[in-house]
Amino acid sequence: MTTTQGLGLARDLAERHGQGHLVAGWDSLGEEARTALAEDILAIDWPVVAPWLGEEGAARRSHAARGDRAELEPAVALQPDDVQRRAARAAGEAVLRRGRVAALTVAGGQGTRLGWSGPKGTFPGTPITGKPLFRVFAEQIRRARDRYGVPIRWLIMTSPENDAATRSFLADNNCFGLPRRDIAIFPQGVHPSIDLASGRILMADRHAIAFNPDGHGGVLRALETSGVLDGMIGLGVEVLSSFQIDNPLVRALDPVFIGLHLDAAHSSGEMSSKAVIKSQPGERVGVFARCDGRLRVVEYMDLPEAVAARRDADGGLAFRWGSIAVHLLGTAFVRKLVDPDSGATLPLHGAMRKMPYFDPATGRRVEPAEPNAIKLETFLFDAIPFAEKSLVLATDRREEFAPIKNSRGEDSAATSYRMQMERASAWLESAGVRVPRRADGSVDAAIEISPLSASGPEDLEALAALPGEIRPGQRLVI
Ligand code: UD1
Repeated sequence: MTTTQGLGLARDLAERHGQGHLVAGWDSLGEEARTALAEDILAIDWPVVAPWLGEEGAARRSHAARGDRAELEPAVALQPDDVQRRAARAAGEAVLRRGRVAALTVAGGQGTRLGWSGPKGTFPGTPITGKPLFRVFAEQIRRARDRYGVPIRWLIMTSPENDAATRSFLADNNCFGLPRRDIAIFPQGVHPSIDLASGRILMADRHAIAFNPDGHGGVLRALETSGVLDGMIGLGVEVLSSFQIDNPLVRALDPVFIGLHLDAAHSSGEMSSKAVIKSQPGERVGVFARCDGRLRVVEYMDLPEAVAARRDADGGLAFRWGSIAVHLLGTAFVRKLVDPDSGATLPLHGAMRKMPYFDPATGRRVEPAEPNAIKLETFLFDAIPFAEKSLVLATDRREEFAPIKNSRGEDSAATSYRMQMERASAWLESAGVRVPRRADGSVDAAIEISPLSASGPEDLEALAALPGEIRPGQRLVI
């Protein structure tokens, strides 16, 4: 956008929304810088962002700091028995074999908590070989492709910040053995970051607005604008199996889950989710709840402490079903959600952040000591209430959830590696292998099972070279 008209429009938009500071230094900018700034201003989704700005947006911004206060009831998760699971597996496998399912990874997050500078998918995700998280999922998809005999597409949502690095990482690693044509990489959108106190849009530089990725809910719009959604529908894909980049234990393509999702007794086939029992009231996972009769996920920051701590007569947490952010989405449902006439708009959430910015008044960069900004995001799980009948499937944490989110402590690489080795040991034991355990029950060996070797204990039994016994302290990669 270099036309005089475009520049005028940008300036007018900023001023009309009380954001004159963005263009105050306009006249002193060179032509290129001014054009860049105008492009940033024109890229803002003003009708969506405007209610958060200025004095009028103050209540919204402080509500963001305070959280949600809706009336909630706990949701119930489906715990299928073996017969139901077998039937669901057969149905799910038939759908996979027909090439109707694609994997979808939301990988646009900034990974600040982990303190890793590259895209999170490049982080060493496994305990012994240190496979990057991207590789863990690529290998699961390769195995599924080989098992079901069809190409399985992998959709990866990046953010503008990590898109180029993600592309070159996958290219440099030959897409970990997947054909490049089966992978679609597309960036999510952005929203401007807003000063918490004043409601002004923050600047990253004299000629640039400070943007943040628009949340994983941005995947819906990004699927559409990138053309990936149409492409998938054109290829006959009906189900997107969506998961986060941070969980190496995820079952990227779970036939049981797919079968249940497509069973009208449990779900309208629009959106289904997996849940685990929360480990403790303060665990940082969203919980499944009912609000005005609709199923939804309430984010951990928005669940009042007293509600999170409430117990049932059985002693378990009342709001016990925690989201592991694994969802199945019908492609037809996604199309409905992105249709502006459907009325299905995901709500914007504001989260407080400590965000460095450029102050146009002083011409200096500011490194705030306290949270100073609001970052606007939508969440994919907010699509659940738009589904007619949405399934929550109970899953075993030890089998499917060991996220790597923090550099130390809970949900760190160390805890995830330990859980991965525990799962590998449990699989081996159920295949008849003796695994050494210490007095406290922990495994006295280091074991890693490649997704290419097995996606469950039943696959191990078929492996020819399985040892009968593992020695204490042994390191073993299968
Ligand atoms: C998230 C969920 C929480 C769930 C938990 C399970 C949210 C708001 N909360 O918490 O309900 O119980 O995971 O592990 O998601 N991402 C993008 N683009 C963005 C922001 C995030 O692609 O703009 C991706 C990240 O790359 C990551 C995932 O979304 O894969 C989760 O983001 P994160 O902010 O780490 O969520 P959590 O707080 O861990």
